[in-house]
Amino acid sequence: MKKILLTGGNGFFGTRLADFYRGKYEVIVTDKDDLDIVNEEEVVNAFKEMKPDFVIHAAAIAVTDFCNKHPELAYKINVQGAINVAKACKEVGAKMVFISSEQVFNGNDNRGPFNEESTPVPNTVYGENKLEAEKLIKEILDEVWVLRFTWQFGLPQRGFNMASNILWDTMTAIMKGEKIIAPTNEFRGMTYVYELIEQFDKIFEIPYDTYHVGSVNNLSRYDVVKFIIKQLGLEHRTEEILEADTEKYSDNPRDVRLDTSKLAKFGIKFGTTEEGIVRCLNEFKIKL
Ligand SMILES: NC(=O)c1ccc[n+]([C@@H]2O[C@H](COP(=O)([O-])OP(=O)(O)OC[C@H]3O[C@@H](n4cnc5c(N)ncnc54)[C@H](OP(=O)(O)O)[C@@H]3O)[C@@H](O)[C@H]2O)c1
Repeated sequence: MKKILLTGGNGFFGTRLADFYRGKYEVIVTDKDDLDIVNEEEVVNAFKEMKPDFVIHAAAIAVTDFCNKHPELAYKINVQGAINVAKACKEVGAKMVFISSEQVFNGNDNRGPFNEESTPVPNTVYGENKLEAEKLIKEILDEVWVLRFTWQFGLPQRGFNMASNILWDTMTAIMKGEKIIAPTNEFRGMTYVYELIEQFDKIFEIPYDTYHVGSVNNLSRYDVVKFIIKQLGLEHRTEEILEADTEKYSDNPRDVRLDTSKLAKFGIKFGTTEEGIVRCLNEFKIKL
């Protein structure tokens, strides 16, 4: 059985991925308590001991505001940590998956969907970190897949971590009776986390390269929230729950959508964000 070493294994993505692939691969789950990626020696020693075939590097500080407020810490984990993991992969001959983000395109004046040839212009510490890490890792290692993720969504599960996401954030706001104010000029891909996870090991079969990953989405953030409200059976309460923010990004729409056709050529295909939302709610049997 091939061995996958997962960093950031306690996170939103990592907990679900590890659970899904247990049995098909030997999945070694690590997180900062047992493998702090900032400590190069610890990482190299751990990799030498565990001898993974694949390393999925999901550890990061992934909260944009936190990274902006703590740029040194963010750099240490998001860039230096990724370099340490790449060096350790090289040392033991492991193949690496580096998880990057749509946020490398956050500062682009031109609109998405962006493909892998588009020039990224990040304008947050998190986006800058991811872009720099992509570049530096490729200088260390040839056997690396760089995956730029769209925004993931999913629902709570026992023992699995959560992260802010469009579906759960909408549901919690409704439960708290908070009004949701959503921009009509913001566009981004939003992907059901299991749609991604279930296809994830196909990545190990494709050429080493950079790929854009996730759902196609032609709706604004406002329209996605409106769609979720409808799917929850609360369409009659839309005006009470949701308000359009037409001002934010009105000068220059925020559009960080990713063109994922390069990955589709290898048979890794995603449905629309709307399809992902319907599927997720069906799988969790949710109707309010
Ligand atoms: N979720 C998304 O929508 C999304 C979109 C694009 C890209 N991504 C990327 O996908 C990956 C997984 O995201 P996620 O949503 O699962 O994030 P997450 O829930 O925050 O998981 C990241 C994990 O990394 C751990 N970590 C932080 N510092 C570490 C260190 N020094 N050593 C080892 N582990 C450390 C975190 O631990 P603590 O929580 O204890 O700090 C956390 O368990 C990240 O690289 C993220 O940048 C995510």
